[in-house]
Amino acid sequence: MSCFKVNHINKLKGSIWLPGAKNSVLPLLAATFLSEGVSVLHNCPMLSDVLISIKILEHLGCRCEVSGNTVTVHSEGCYGDDIPEYLMREMRSSIVFMGAVAAKSGTASMSLPGGCELGPRPIDLHLDAFERLGSEIECIGGKIICRMPNGAVGTEIHLSFPSVGATENIILATATGNGTTVITNAAREPEIADLCDFLKLCGAKIEGAGTDRITIIGVKKLKGAEYTVMPDRIVAATYLCATAACSGKVQLKGANPNHLLPIISTLKDTGCEIETTDSTVSISSSGKLEAFGSISTQPYPGFPTDAGPLAVALATVLFGTSIFIENIFDSRFKYIDELRRLGASIKTVGRVAIISGVKKLHSAEVVAMDLRGGAALVMAAMKAEGTSLVKNVHYIDRGYYKLEDGLNLLGADIIRID
Ligand code: UD1
Repeated sequence: MSCFKVNHINKLKGSIWLPGAKNSVLPLLAATFLSEGVSVLHNCPMLSDVLISIKILEHLGCRCEVSGNTVTVHSEGCYGDDIPEYLMREMRSSIVFMGAVAAKSGTASMSLPGGCELGPRPIDLHLDAFERLGSEIECIGGKIICRMPNGAVGTEIHLSFPSVGATENIILATATGNGTTVITNAAREPEIADLCDFLKLCGAKIEGAGTDRITIIGVKKLKGAEYTVMPDRIVAATYLCATAACSGKVQLKGANPNHLLPIISTLKDTGCEIETTDSTVSISSSGKLEAFGSISTQPYPGFPTDAGPLAVALATVLFGTSIFIENIFDSRFKYIDELRRLGASIKTVGRVAIISGVKKLHSAEVVAMDLRGGAALVMAAMKAEGTSLVKNVHYIDRGYYKLEDGLNLLGADIIRID
């Protein structure tokens, strides 16, 4: 397994292009299955979860071609209906294939996604919604079978929580369904608007994407389309928080500042200078920053849970005490013990972390326990005196394509050891 040898640095400097968003490309790839034609997705980050999604599409009968960051999917006449357990186990978010597969093939059969690094990941909202859409759900021996032989039947679905995955699954199940479906309390994450923009190019009729009320009018058939995946706002948050912590001046290119408002506002509160244009975000940090007060994670447009570990890692070196509250996932604080090994002063009470900034972090051997927690450790290790080792880099690789290359381009000193 790989680890990162991370040397202390004094500043980050330069500019970097953002990759396409992991959380957008996964539902987009699921959406390509729905069409009767050829879809071309540009700006796909070649992450392990993306490669697994491609394997799932191939298993379902699609022909996929990868060229650089472009994935072409031929899905005409493909009606596979099962996803084998070994692929489901590789990627928890493969549940997002259920809506598309059941809608196109009449049945979708896959194993339960089970728990993950962030704690149990229930899918009750997905399954309740499918039942409301007229499908029959059967759970046997750790397998779920969703049958909707005549397609989804349009109805109104109120989500008790604005789940991103459930909102995407309902959209994918109903884009080619019968009648009109209205989702209320829908998730408003930009990745959902990205999915809907692609589906609309394919011929879907969807209104209200990006709001909490989405209306989908089922159409008979979708064609393929060519689309560019939106920039990854969590990768953007990673570079911004790393620059804030290490000090320096960095410009993110191909960014959408509107997706980053809670991050930008938090960083401004610490004393960073941030300038934006339509497609760039520039940050300048003196490295002598104030605590950010209190942040609590919320569904979009609130502070994103995926950026939480980055904010906590930054808070460890801010002047004063910051408070961070995690409202979305139960077990998201595993990285905090590892930050303590680097010299951070953090108390946790349930979902609340109280972080007292320290003058210096020191080097240590730390272990990534999950994707974003792992990125937070790399960031803290860059700031820590001396040379640190971050183990279990495979977690980080799930969301960042060669994170070390991006950070090294900006002046970091990180070596991957296989
Ligand atoms: C997506 C993102 C993930 C991000 C999360 C929240 C992808 C591939 N992943 O995950 O990076 O952290 O949104 O922004 O896009 N829940 C239920 N029942 C359900 C579904 C969800 O109780 O049926 C709960 C979850 O346990 C969690 C919360 O709702 O506590 C949020 O989950 P959800 O919005 O569905 O996140 P994901 O789509 O899994």
